Amino acid sequence: MMSSASAPGKLMLLGEHSVVYGHPCLVTTVDLRVRVCVESIPGDRLVIRTPALTKAGREDTINLADLQEMTSFPAETGFVLAAVREFQRAFGRVEGLRIVTEGPEQSYGLGSSSAVTVATMGALFGLRSLPLDLHRIHELSYAAVLAVQGKGSGFDVASATFGGTILFQRTGGVVEKLAVPDLPIVIGYSGKKVSTTNLITRVAELHQRHPGLVDGMFSLMVDLVLSGRSALLSANWSLLGELVNINHGLLESLGVSTVQLAKPIYAARESGAFGAKLSGAGGGDCMFALVDDRHREAVRDAIAAAGAQPLELATNVEGLRLD
Ligand code: PMV
Repeated sequence: MMSSASAPGKLMLLGEHSVVYGHPCLVTTVDLRVRVCVESIPGDRLVIRTPALTKAGREDTINLADLQEMTSFPAETGFVLAAVREFQRAFGRVEGLRIVTEGPEQSYGLGSSSAVTVATMGALFGLRSLPLDLHRIHELSYAAVLAVQGKGSGFDVASATFGGTILFQRTGGVVEKLAVPDLPIVIGYSGKKVSTTNLITRVAELHQRHPGLVDGMFSLMVDLVLSGRSALLSANWSLLGELVNINHGLLESLGVSTVQLAKPIYAARESGAFGAKLSGAGGGDCMFALVDDRHREAVRDAIAAAGAQPLELATNVEGLRLD
C-alpha cells in the first residue's frame, strides 16, 4: 500500500506576530510544493528519505515504538516524525513505513516545514483511506509543528492545508477562504534564513516591557487585516499596497525588520510598487512587493539591485492534494 500527497508553501500578507496573540492574519500559498510518499513496509520501522539525506548518501531509520517517547526531534526529519506521531496518537498504531519527501532545492523561509508536515499527514490519511477532513488534518499537523518548534500560531499549517488565500485566526479556529484573483506580487529573498521562534520570543519580551504600546500595535494590525480583506476581495491593489506599507511600519516598530529587508522594500516602493513589506517573522527571509504589470520589471530589478533575490512564484495556489 502506498499513498502520496503534496502541499504548498506560504507567504504572509498582513498580520504576522499579532496572529500569535490570537488576532487574524491574511496569508496566501506559494507554488513551492513539497511532496510526501508513504508506503507500508513489514516490521516496526520508520524509514525516512529526504532530499538532504539522499544528498548525504543516507536514509534514517527509527523504531516506531521509540517515536512516542521522543522529546526532541532531529532537524532533517523532525516534522515528518512528529506528523507520524500525531497520526498514531489520533488513529492508533501504524505499521512499518517508508516515507520519501521531495521538495524544492531552496525553500526561502516560505513554509517548507508546514508543507512537509501537512503533506505527511495527508499521505497518512490516504494510506488509511480516511476521508480528507481538512480541519482535522490542520489540527493534527499544528500539534506536530508545536511538538517540534514549541511556538507558532498555525497560520502556515492552515495555509498549506486549505490553500488559496485565507483569513486565519487561531482564536475561534477561523479559516475563511477568500475568492481572490491572481495576486500581483514579486517576492524578494534577503539571503538569510532565521529562527521564527527567536523572533516570537523577542516580540514577547517587548510586549512584556511595553504591554500597552505593543497591544496598541496589534490592534492596528487587526484593523489592517480587516481592511486588507476588503481590498483583496475587490482587487484594490493600490489600497492593499498602502495597508502593506503601514503594516511594515508597525513591524519596524516591533523591531523585527533588518537593513537587508528594508533596502529592497524601499527600492520596490521607489520603483513604482503599490506597497512592500517584510513577510513572516522578520530578521531575514522574504519581503514582497505588490506591483502592476507596467512596473513589474523595474521593481524586480530594483529588488535585485538592493541585494535581495527576486522570486517569481505563483501565489494563491491549491492546498493539500492527494497525488
Ligand atoms: O517566519 P514565518 O514565515 O514562519 O512566519 C512567522 C509568523 C509569525 O506570526 C511571527 C509566527 C506565527 O507562527 O504566526
